[in-house]
Amino acid sequence: MTNANPIASTLLDRVLVLEMVRVTEAAAVAASALIGRGDEKAADHAAVEAMRAALNELPMDGTVVIGEGERDEAPMLFIGEKVGTGQGPGIDIALDPLEGTTITAKAGPNALAVLAIAEQGCLLNAPDVYMQKLAIGPGYPDGTIDLARSPSENVRAIASAKGVEPGEIIACVLDRPRHAELIAELRSLGCGIQLIPDGDVAGVIAVTDPDTTVDVYMGSGGAPEGVLAAAALRCVGGQIQGRLLFRNDDERGRARRWGIEDLDRIYRLEDMAKGDCIFAATGVTDGSLLDGVKRRKDLVTTESIVMRASSGTVRRVRGEHRNLKA
Ligand code: FBP
Repeated sequence: MTNANPIASTLLDRVLVLEMVRVTEAAAVAASALIGRGDEKAADHAAVEAMRAALNELPMDGTVVIGEGERDEAPMLFIGEKVGTGQGPGIDIALDPLEGTTITAKAGPNALAVLAIAEQGCLLNAPDVYMQKLAIGPGYPDGTIDLARSPSENVRAIASAKGVEPGEIIACVLDRPRHAELIAELRSLGCGIQLIPDGDVAGVIAVTDPDTTVDVYMGSGGAPEGVLAAAALRCVGGQIQGRLLFRNDDERGRARRWGIEDLDRIYRLEDMAKGDCIFAATGVTDGSLLDGVKRRKDLVTTESIVMRASSGTVRRVRGEHRNLKA
């Protein structure tokens, strides 16, 4: 693979890969104090503050391109905020300090602290609107899935490529009333459906892990989460497509202000995350991807994953944290 900027690439490789885990660990540990406490905002706030402080220790000139919101709505980690020490080449950052605020408040599964970084211009600057998503794991021929086709057509194409009947396909879908039609269509094919309460970054990544038995992710969720999931698939393989969904003129106007002209465009993986990128996540609550934070009297344990696109390396990191202040 040819890297657009060899200096940035070396920095991504040598310095930032494991440092990123410190950042997601910090956010996850901070949020974990609020697991099951019924306070989504407090959990999110704790994760945001901790992630921002840890990011600012990193030797990079980082710019948040997917963050907590636009500058007027998010006091910290807003889109465009500069993070890092300011030294070194420019790096774009997509983050979600607490992916699954409701899950955390209710002590449900699959809440994560998530971060992806890439060379400048390599991550889609997606507005905070919904995105229709369709994703499968590695090993399928290119073009197996196509958002322009119906869910039934996509399930049949996946089943045929896998060599099974459509009724043997397992789909992961966010449990939302807006997905009633999709769920009915999948049921009419006899598919298994794993309905998740929240957390579609983990939902999309589940398609890359045969242990989950999930073949396809379908349905709509946040566009920022779509870009984060695309960065993960860029590292481990798989295919994802997304189309922005707009509920009103305000959302359409926001997208246009961001330079998005074709509002119906279908984004492929390489439109959402290209070049060399690194994805890191730490489990906040137990889930299909990672164990959650365990707080014991004198010891806090974490499980994280960090992966890099250009090498395809995936590292799992178990952290034991002693003498934590919070
Ligand atoms: P939060 O962490 O912001 O609560 O997001 C959780 C989440 O489930 C995402 O994983 C998903 O993309 C989005 O919310 C779905 O949005 P909605 O809850 O409006 O259906």
